[in-house]
Amino acid sequence: MNRLFKPAIKKLDLGQKFIWGVATSAFQIEGGSTADGRGESIWDRFCQVPGNIADGSDGSVACDHYNLWESDLDLIADLGVDAYRFSISWPRVRPLGDGAWNEAGLNFYERLIQGLQDRGIQAHVTLNHWDLPQALQDRGGWESDETCELFVEYALEINRRFGDKLASICTHNEPWVVAVLGHEIGNFAPGIKSRKVAMQVSHNLLKSHGMALAALRQDGCQAELGIVLNMSPIYPATDSADDIAKAKIDDGLIVRWYMDPLINGRYPSDVLEHLGDDSPTFTADEMALIAQPNDFIGVNYYTRNFSSNGNPWDVESTGNLVTDMGWEVYPDGLTELLVRLHSDYRVKKFWVTENGAAFKDELENGFVDDQARVSYIRDHIEATAKARDLGVPVEAYFAWSLFDNFEWASGYEKRFGIYHVDYGTGKRSAKASANWYRDFLGDESQ
Ligand code: GCO
Repeated sequence: MNRLFKPAIKKLDLGQKFIWGVATSAFQIEGGSTADGRGESIWDRFCQVPGNIADGSDGSVACDHYNLWESDLDLIADLGVDAYRFSISWPRVRPLGDGAWNEAGLNFYERLIQGLQDRGIQAHVTLNHWDLPQALQDRGGWESDETCELFVEYALEINRRFGDKLASICTHNEPWVVAVLGHEIGNFAPGIKSRKVAMQVSHNLLKSHGMALAALRQDGCQAELGIVLNMSPIYPATDSADDIAKAKIDDGLIVRWYMDPLINGRYPSDVLEHLGDDSPTFTADEMALIAQPNDFIGVNYYTRNFSSNGNPWDVESTGNLVTDMGWEVYPDGLTELLVRLHSDYRVKKFWVTENGAAFKDELENGFVDDQARVSYIRDHIEATAKARDLGVPVEAYFAWSLFDNFEWASGYEKRFGIYHVDYGTGKRSAKASANWYRDFLGDESQ
C-alpha cells in the first residue's frame, strides 16, 4: 500500500485489549540517592569515578521523582496510558541487599503503587534495572550465587508487600547490558573488563530469574512474570563470509544466548564453542530452572545492528535518520525481530517494553516540537501492528521514556523523554510527542 495514502495508525488497530504504556527506571529518575536510608548502588559508585559519565553527572537528584512522584503520576495519568513500567531500587528497600529492610523505602513504593491504582493505571515493576546494592557487589555481585539467593528474597518481599497490586513483575531488565557492558566492556557499572566474568554473570542473571519465578509461583504470586531483553535484528555489513559469520555469532551473543535458555533450557552450541574457556559453568538443573515458563517476554527495541569483521559499519550509509545516540531509525526492524522471535521460539506473548529515541531537542518558548520523535513512536507502533497482523502475539507497547532522565554513561546529555525536564528547576513540559501520544491514546475511533 502506498505509504502516502495509508490511513494513520489508530490505537484500536491493535485491538481493545492491547496495553499502552510508558516506562522509566529507578536510578534514571528518582534521585534521593541517600534519602530515608537508601543504600548505595553500583551506579552511585560508578558515577563517582571521573570519566565514567560523559557529563560528570550522577543520579543523586536525577528528575527528583522521589519527591515529585505524586505530580509525576498525574503526568502519566494525563497521557491516558493503561500502564506504567518502572523499577524498584533494591538498595532503597534493602540498603545492604541483605539484612534489614528499609520501611521508608518500601513505603515510597507503597505510595507510588497505590497512587497508580487510584488513577486506574497498571503497575508493571522491574526488580533489577541495574542498580544492584554496592554492598553485594563488594561480596562478588552477580558473579556470586549468594546474590542470586538474595535476589530471590528481594523478589519474595516485593511480592508479599505489593504483589496484589502489581500487573507484572519483571526480574531483570536487559541482562546482556548488565553482563557485557557492565562486566566485559566495563563502560557500565560495575566497570569490570572480563568476558569470562561477563558470561558467568549472564548465566547467574538467568539463573536468578528462574529461581525467582519458581519461588514467586510457590509463594502464590498473582502478577504476570517475565524478563525484559534488549534485542535487534542483526545483519552482515557485507555479503562476505566473514561478515556473515560475525553476524551469526553476534546474533548468538545478543539474542540466542538469552532466548535459547529461557525458552528451550539450553545455551546455543555455536556460542559455547565461540566462547571456549570463557563459557560459564552451569548444571542441567540450573538450565531447567532458567526455562521456567514466562507469562511474557519483554522486548526493548531501538534499532537494527550490522556486523562487520572489517571496518566498522557506517550508520549513515543507510540514508535513514540517525538518533542522538547514533542509532539508525529503522521501524521495520521491530517487525522483523518480533516475527523472527515468534517463528523461532514458543513464547506466550511479547510486550514491547521499551521503544523510543534521543534527539537534540530544542526548547523554544517552553515547548519542544519533537516531530522526529513523534514520527519515531508512530512508525514503531505501526511496525508493532504489522507484527500482530503477521500473527505475532505482541500485546503491549511502552514508550521509552516518560521524561528525559539519566542516560547511564551518557549522563543527562541524551534526552529520550516525551516530557522535557529542566534539570535546574525540575520543571516537566510536554513535548509534541507527549501531546501526540495523548491524542493517539484518546482516539477510540476505528
Ligand atoms: C536500555 C535501558 C534504558 C535506556 C534506554 C536508552 O534499554 O538501555 O533499559 O534504561 O535508558 O534503553 O538507552
